[in-house]
Amino acid sequence: TIPIFETVAALREQTGAWHGRGDRIVLVPTMGALHEGHLALIAHARTLGERVVASIFVNPTQFGPTEDFSRYPRTVEADLAALAQAGADAAYMPGADVMYPPGFSSRIEPGGPSEGLCGEVRPGHFSGVATVVTKLINQTRADVALFGEKDFQQLQVIRRVARDLDLPVSIAGMPTIREADGLALSSRNRYLNEAERSIAPRLHAVLAKAAERLAGGDMAAPVLADSIEALKASGFGPVQYFELRDTETLLPVSQLERPARLLTAAYLGTTRLIDNVAVLPK
Ligand code: PAJ
Repeated sequence: TIPIFETVAALREQTGAWHGRGDRIVLVPTMGALHEGHLALIAHARTLGERVVASIFVNPTQFGPTEDFSRYPRTVEADLAALAQAGADAAYMPGADVMYPPGFSSRIEPGGPSEGLCGEVRPGHFSGVATVVTKLINQTRADVALFGEKDFQQLQVIRRVARDLDLPVSIAGMPTIREADGLALSSRNRYLNEAERSIAPRLHAVLAKAAERLAGGDMAAPVLADSIEALKASGFGPVQYFELRDTETLLPVSQLERPARLLTAAYLGTTRLIDNVAVLPK
């Protein structure tokens, strides 16, 4: 078992002691319902510093009014056992009252990479993410904070915010962990029924095919249109976006000249899935 901290004061007493010994602290923020993708982050975090703190907080401010906040899976006991097993040194589990005490009224409004994609279909989402991640970093006084490329736009938004606001932390990213059939691991995969689960890997397959065509010199517009058609033909519902963007700025790209990223969000039944892949010019 690992120590669990529920207040900023208790967390900082521990991280202060670690810093006093010269240990670097790596923060891995999560919303729990941990899977092998999260645990791979913990394992990688161990290589980035001497101490790993995993936070578990289902952040209400990043969910829209009609989204799945109240039914988001909560599996605390299993999460804590998995964190200990994966090599985390501590779990930080603040209550909503610790994060957002009465009178709380400030937030970070990211621009740049937060525009379009999930930023467009989930208004306020990245403001909620940026605010809670900044708080978690400040509360922990982390030297490094680690995020998955599974949520690529989130990673680039956090990099931008850390740079723009001079957060004294280094932001690290890690490639997406996938099932053998290509489906990106996600806490939301457990919402899929058997039929949906068998269709879900098409999301990555279609991304991979599109990336190959783009790298081969095909124009973006027809590749993107074909991909959306392919997803619909496979049984996906609304495709919220399927876009080619610059890796760093996430600005739209029409011709592949620099490293780019293909990103998509699509519904499968009532479950919203996201995924993305790199596209590198040859
Ligand atoms: P959550 O969805 O729990 O994800 C926590 C971290 O795990 C994120 O950095 C995410 O990108 C990473 N992750 C999830 N699935 C992954 C996979 N298959 N491979 C690699 N990394 C994966 O993202 C959030 O929580 C929240 O927005 C948070 C940053 C904690 C702020 O509330």
